[in-house]
Amino acid sequence: MNDSDTLLIKNIGILVGVYDTAPGVLSGEKMNRLPVLDNAWLAVAGEKIAGFGPMAECPAEDNFRLVFDACDGWLFPCFCDSHTHLVYPGSRDGEFRDKIAGMSYEEIASRGGGILNSADLLNRTSEDDLYLSASHRLRQCMSFGTGAIEIKSGYGLTTEGELKMLRVIRRLRDDFPQIEIRSTFLGAHAVGRAYIGRQGEYVDMIIREMLPAVAAERLADYVDVFCDNGFFTVDETARILEAAKPYGLRPKIHANELAVSGGVQVGVTHNALSVDHLEHITDDEIEALMGSDTIPTMLPGASFFLGLPYGNARKVIDAGMPLALASDYNPGSSPSGSMRFVSSLGCIKMHLTPEESISAVTVNGAAAMGLDNIGAIVPGFYASFFLTTPLPSLAYLQYAYTEPLITRVFLKGHSI
Ligand code: NIG
Ligand code: FE
Repeated sequence: MNDSDTLLIKNIGILVGVYDTAPGVLSGEKMNRLPVLDNAWLAVAGEKIAGFGPMAECPAEDNFRLVFDACDGWLFPCFCDSHTHLVYPGSRDGEFRDKIAGMSYEEIASRGGGILNSADLLNRTSEDDLYLSASHRLRQCMSFGTGAIEIKSGYGLTTEGELKMLRVIRRLRDDFPQIEIRSTFLGAHAVGRAYIGRQGEYVDMIIREMLPAVAAERLADYVDVFCDNGFFTVDETARILEAAKPYGLRPKIHANELAVSGGVQVGVTHNALSVDHLEHITDDEIEALMGSDTIPTMLPGASFFLGLPYGNARKVIDAGMPLALASDYNPGSSPSGSMRFVSSLGCIKMHLTPEESISAVTVNGAAAMGLDNIGAIVPGFYASFFLTTPLPSLAYLQYAYTEPLITRVFLKGHSI
């Protein structure tokens, strides 16, 4: 162990999410078994967790370059936010007035507002300005305790605009190595302005022009389609996912936000890593997901902001499946990247236990990004975690949802 890179955190009140080996995605009842260790120490070597144990067996402090006293505060693995759109220009506070006056998300979108509104602005915004606002949001997410994040394109809707967004995501990845970033190409977020009324031709253009350009610069890890009422059909989604496959882009798709869209089934058929939203989910979707490798992901921040029904998380977990929760951070349906708030909504609105909710926003979120070395306290995992004040119980984290309980965030061994 290199002395210059070692850190000991002592007097941890409760160390949450401890496993001897990588837990993998947690399904069904396993989500509720959140292993913890009372009165603990944790050692870090470089970017990784070196070990942990009870304070009675704490290693000698002079073996470490830095010693941090948690003073009985709790230590949680970092949040892993598997679905965001945090690269966007401006905001949509103008539409917020229409929304609170009662206009629905679909009505705003069909008036040429919504995603197209952001796309118009994005195509007038320079890459540098886009980078600046996105890096501000990313820093904010990190300060909230997020250590891994997926970011989508989808506000360009022109080849140039989509590439611009994906290049911004790549710059964020280069400039913020403390946070794990995965990138998703979402050209099929809405039909680009120049193609309105010619949706089929827009899909052709995504396949002919956008996908090869994205792949040529290796700008994306995953591919997404907004498969829903008023957006892209199941057939169009299937065409795009098929075309993306030779480029090695595994799907992570938007499905069943606005209606039972067939999005879950087309996702599972194409071996999607995750199907996200699921505000509408019936027995048919559960049956399709059962036995697949696709991780159901719900985004309660969008239900909160848009007044949509919350996804039936209990149905998914009680059927023995895994569930991830993510923020959906975006200007139109979820203008917040707070995973603590997402975890609270998971408990308050979706009836998850506090333990299930933590599993959903940490290790299962990591799995929904294809990551298996972050989001739990395991030797060899990234030393990405946050400390809180001493808590009366685990549930307090979700219960006291506006209390600033997080005292310090470490990402890959560095205090941020
Ligand atoms: O996940 N549903 C589609 N996309 C985003 C909303 C994007 C927007 O309105 O800007 C979502 O909710
Ligand atoms: Fe989304």
